[in-house]
Amino acid sequence: MTITLIWAQTPTGIIGRDGTLPWHVPEDMAHFRDLTRGHPVIMGRGTWDSLPPRFRPLPDRDNIVLTRDPLFEAAGALVAHDLEEALRLVENRDAWVVGGGEIYALFLPLAHRVERTLVSLDVGGDTRAPTLDRLDWKRTEPDDTWLTSTAGGTRYRFESYVRR
Ligand SMILES: NC(=O)c1ccc[n+]([C@@H]2O[C@H](COP(=O)([O-])OP(=O)(O)OC[C@H]3O[C@@H](n4cnc5c(N)ncnc54)[C@H](OP(=O)(O)O)[C@@H]3O)[C@@H](O)[C@H]2O)c1
Repeated sequence: MTITLIWAQTPTGIIGRDGTLPWHVPEDMAHFRDLTRGHPVIMGRGTWDSLPPRFRPLPDRDNIVLTRDPLFEAAGALVAHDLEEALRLVENRDAWVVGGGEIYALFLPLAHRVERTLVSLDVGGDTRAPTLDRLDWKRTEPDDTWLTSTAGGTRYRFESYVRR
């Protein structure tokens, strides 16, 4: 079983604002779909709430939603009330942690890999990605080429990290 965190952030670490993503980069959404399809995904209740109802549960993936609320229900998803319960629901499969800020911070110490998209925008926000300490994380196949989104011309690049 491996645990991979996947997120998109600005160069200063912003991942969300007012419960949504502060950009629209469809190529990154396709990248997210391709990598996570077929695997269990773990998310916080905040991220579940941020998904438009027609897009949840994320299809072709077991969706596991973390909440401390014993009464919370998420139609079509499994609900876990702490990290250990979420891992039990994963049942030794390779799991992807898909946000948001609180849940990335919770799982980073357990993570084997991080798939990070850098979005070259200078925007404010209220939710941040964890910092990847160079002593703990090594970038694989570094390629600093920026790509350009067909939707609006936003520049972005994909980065992969493994724990040292
Ligand atoms: N850029 C990206 O890649 C990306 C990806 C995902 C999300 N986002 C953005 O991130 C934002 C949401 O992130 P967020 O930090 O506000 O929320 P979040 O991490 O998605 O969820 C936080 C919630 O998770 C539950 N939780 C946290 N720790 C827990 C624990 N130890 N045990 C059980 N439950 C726990 C709590 O739910 P209860 O309050 O119900 O107890 C908490 O309120 C949105 O703006 C979203 O658009 C960005």
